[in-house]
Amino acid sequence: MDTKLLSKTARAMVAKGKGLLAADESAGTCEKRFNTINTECTEPNRRAWRNLLLTTKGAEEFISGVILFDETIHQKTLDGEVPFPQYLESKGIIPGIKVDGGVHDLALCPGEKVSEGLDGLRKRLAEYFKLGARFAKWRSVITIGEGIPSHACLYANAHALARYAALCQEASIVPVVEPEVLLDGSHTIERCFEVSEATLTATFAALRAHNVSLEHTILKASMVISGKDCPKQASVEQVAEQTVRCLKRAVPAALPGVVFLSGGQSDEAATAHLNAMAAMPGLPWPLTYSYSRALQNPALKTWGGKAANVAAAQKAYYHRARMNSLASQGKYRPDMEKQAA
Ligand code: 13P
Repeated sequence: MDTKLLSKTARAMVAKGKGLLAADESAGTCEKRFNTINTECTEPNRRAWRNLLLTTKGAEEFISGVILFDETIHQKTLDGEVPFPQYLESKGIIPGIKVDGGVHDLALCPGEKVSEGLDGLRKRLAEYFKLGARFAKWRSVITIGEGIPSHACLYANAHALARYAALCQEASIVPVVEPEVLLDGSHTIERCFEVSEATLTATFAALRAHNVSLEHTILKASMVISGKDCPKQASVEQVAEQTVRCLKRAVPAALPGVVFLSGGQSDEAATAHLNAMAAMPGLPWPLTYSYSRALQNPALKTWGGKAANVAAAQKAYYHRARMNSLASQGKYRPDMEKQAA
């Protein structure tokens, strides 16, 4: 365990004005996204899409690291056939890797999930380190519904996150611990607060119990927000206030930083929420983005699977990355969207 390397990586991941691009969709999730643009989800098409994002000129001004999927970490750029992790390093972007094996039904807990993938993880992490990965992500999902989440679900997922995080640190890889409270459902923001606090509390108790070094851990959090189908949607200010209040109650100040997922929010909403939080005084940690959909969606639509649209799509991705960079410093205003359009 190289603590100097862990510190250096963690600090760089949340450097001022920078955040992460999550480009670690599994082939199944990629297929869902490609279906929206009538593009076949083949290996060459996935490579072309990842190539478009990763080779966008200037993105390194705003992107500190990219979370890759297993397939992508083994792929090469279209021009010059440079392995993606090496290409990213040459631009000063840290390669990361998704290491959970996806969500599965949790036995005896109807409607709840647990993330699998601990078996053989030590060996996989050693291989990913050799390929250049310096951080890794594990995502758990917590569903809000009638009578759920259960204690069993919160603790099963917290335990898995802690075991994964310990293995990462042992391998000198920074863990990005992601207990995602899903946006799906008609719950209120108050209910989301309650579940998010319980989830984070369980997660940090497990991390401590497994001797995980908090100074070398990044939290990937969901925002405290009204359920997608809740008739009363909280304002940007409410989301920001409740998210920061929840994090302050449950997340140790020792963490080097907190990054957010977008979770199905519109891209501009995800940017506005981050901005409102980052503008608050006296935050114990840097807050920034680790978005997939909220960074990729406009670019994906513009691309539409066509080589002729690559330059325009890269422009759309660069724009979203820039807007989020400003938001992570509390310097974003919605009228900046129009200026660039
Ligand atoms: P979204 O920003 O689309 O929620 O994805 C982030 C992520 O990495 C989920 O694991």
